[in-house]
Amino acid sequence: MTDALPPAPQFGDPLPLTPEPAVLRFLARRRSTSAVTLTEPAPSAEQLDQLLRLATRVPDHGKLAPWRFVLLEGSAKARFAQRLEALALARDDPQAAAKLAKLKAPPLCVAVISSPKPDTPIPQWEQILSAGACATTLLYATLAMGYGANWITDWYAYDPDANAILGLEAGERVAAFMLIGTSRESPLERERPDRAALVTRWSD
Ligand SMILES: Cc1cc2nc3c(=O)[nH]c(=O)nc-3n(C[C@H](O)[C@H](O)[C@H](O)COP(=O)(O)O)c2cc1C
Repeated sequence: MTDALPPAPQFGDPLPLTPEPAVLRFLARRRSTSAVTLTEPAPSAEQLDQLLRLATRVPDHGKLAPWRFVLLEGSAKARFAQRLEALALARDDPQAAAKLAKLKAPPLCVAVISSPKPDTPIPQWEQILSAGACATTLLYATLAMGYGANWITDWYAYDPDANAILGLEAGERVAAFMLIGTSRESPLERERPDRAALVTRWSD
């Protein structure tokens, strides 16, 4: 499915900048896949380790690693979904239980947790942004490996009881439930923003 990754560079190794047209072509066409269409197989244990290696190679002011991952697979993921179902019944949203379908279908979920460190001069905002970089890199690497993936949050990313079931500590938040598997369907292109409306050139 994918070539082996090169060995992890050692600290201080020179890392020459080279054009990577294949990466640019990938970025120009990549698409998330619908979570409910994701089935087995998931990445192997070795591939998952590679994905996490890539996801942790992200901009991180102060080298704080202000994120961590909770892996949900197999019967443990099913039990997690069951416990969320119990919470869903107590919520106002009548769709809350149905929304768990996205979590239940795929064989693998990687919860990316923003875990900002206290007692550091690095602003918390920057630590949270780094968690977003982590999740984005995980998404792109998973797609580049040929698997389907979808970054969702949904109510159980924000529900304090759901966070406790997931094992979050004080100050931690769910950045992503990254749903991963093999896609039965090619995703269709979605609308993309008009860059002209988003870009200005500063001048005084
Ligand atoms: C932080 C975050 C949370 C998201 N949560 C959801 C969600 O709960 N449900 C959903 O349908 N899409 C959600 N999305 C959107 C999809 O992950 C994704 O952006 C969209 O399907 C298009 O992705 P693509 O540009 O990779 O094709 C979320 C995106 C982000 C960045």
